[in-house]
Amino acid sequence: MNAMILWSPGQTLAMAEIDMTLPSIGDVYVRLKAAALNKRDYWITKGKYPGLVFPLILGSDGAGIIGDREVIIDPSINWGDNNRHFGPGFKIIGMPDNGTLAEYVKVHEVNLYDKPSHLSWDEAAALPVAGVTAYRSMFTRGKVQKGERMLITGIGGGVATMALLFGVALGIETWVTSSSDEKIEMAIIHGAKGGVNYTKDNWDKNLGQQVNQKFDIVIDGAGSPTFSKLLPLMNSSGRMVIYGGTAGNINDLSPQRIFWKHLDILGSTMGSPDDFRHMVDFVNEYKIKPIISHTFSLDEANEAIALVGRGEQFGKVCISIP
Ligand SMILES: NC(=O)c1ccc[n+]([C@@H]2O[C@H](COP(=O)([O-])OP(=O)(O)OC[C@H]3O[C@@H](n4cnc5c(N)ncnc54)[C@H](OP(=O)(O)O)[C@@H]3O)[C@@H](O)[C@H]2O)c1
Repeated sequence: MNAMILWSPGQTLAMAEIDMTLPSIGDVYVRLKAAALNKRDYWITKGKYPGLVFPLILGSDGAGIIGDREVIIDPSINWGDNNRHFGPGFKIIGMPDNGTLAEYVKVHEVNLYDKPSHLSWDEAAALPVAGVTAYRSMFTRGKVQKGERMLITGIGGGVATMALLFGVALGIETWVTSSSDEKIEMAIIHGAKGGVNYTKDNWDKNLGQQVNQKFDIVIDGAGSPTFSKLLPLMNSSGRMVIYGGTAGNINDLSPQRIFWKHLDILGSTMGSPDDFRHMVDFVNEYKIKPIISHTFSLDEANEAIALVGRGEQFGKVCISIP
C-alpha cells in the first residue's frame, strides 16, 4: 500500500510503497477514504512529542470501509478499565502504531464505529480526535449543563470548533477567543454569542464588559499566561478544563481567586470508549457536522501539516485518500 512516511524529525513526509503485515487476532485493515490532522501531527514532525519512534506513519483520525461497512476509527488504544483516566498501555493511533496518512490502517475491531450517515468522508474523518476530546472536556470532565455560559479559547482549532458545535447544539451560551477577528466572525456564524481577539490589549476586560456576566465553564487548549486572566471572568463553582498547551506554561495563577470562587481546574485527554460512544451518539442525535477548514490530497500532506503549524485553519484540516 502507499503511505506518507516520516523517516526522522525535521524532515518532510515522503510517499512510499510499504508491505501490509498480517493482522493479529482481532485486528483488521480499514481501507481509508479520508484522514484528518491534529496539532499532534505537527508536533511529531518537529520532534516535539514524547516516545518518538521512526520511521512512522502519522495520522490519528480516519474514516473508511471494511467489507461493505462504513466506519470511523476511535484513535484511543488500550484506554483500560477505568473511565476516570487511561491506564499504562494507552496509545493513540499514528505513533507509535502506524496512522491514517495511508491507503490502509491496521486497527483492532473494537476501535471501529459505524460512520454517522449524515457525514461526508471528510467530515467523518474530522470527527474522532476533536470530537472525543471536546466531548470529554465539556461533558465528562466539565459537566456542562443547559443554561450555563461557556468560553472556548483559540476557536480556530479543531477541538475548539467541535466544542462550539456541541455547545450550540445544546443551546449553551458560548463565547470564544481568537487571534483573528475573521475567525470570531466565523464562530458567530456557527452560533457563538460573540468573542474577543486575545492578541489585543485588555482583551480580558473587553470580554468581561461584552458578556456582562461570568462564565460557568472554560474549555482551553492553549495554557500560557493568558489563562490566568480568565480567573476573574469565572463564576463561583466554575470549571476550567484544559486539554492542550499550545501557547506554553501558565503563570501567575492566583490561589485566592481559585479557592474563594471554589473553582475546579481540570485536565482532559482524548476519551474512554464510553466517551467515544456517547460522542458519536450525540453527533447522530443532533446531526452535527464538523467544520472542515481545508482539504488536501494524500500526496499534499506536507502542505497540510505546514498549514496546521501556522494555525491558519478554522476547523479541521482533512486529507482525502484516493
Ligand atoms: N488532550 C488531548 O486529548 C488533546 C487532543 C487534541 C489536541 N490536543 C492539544 O490541544 C491543542 C489544540 O489542538 P488542535 O488539534 O485542536 O489544534 P489546532 O487545530 O492546531 O488549533 C490550535 C489553535 O490554538 C489557538 N491558539 C494558539 N495560541 C493561542 C493562545 N495564546 N491563546 C488561545 N488560543 C491560542 C489558535 O486559535 P486561533 O487561531 O483562534 O487564534 C489555533 O488555531 C494542541 O496543543 C494539541 O496538542 C490535546
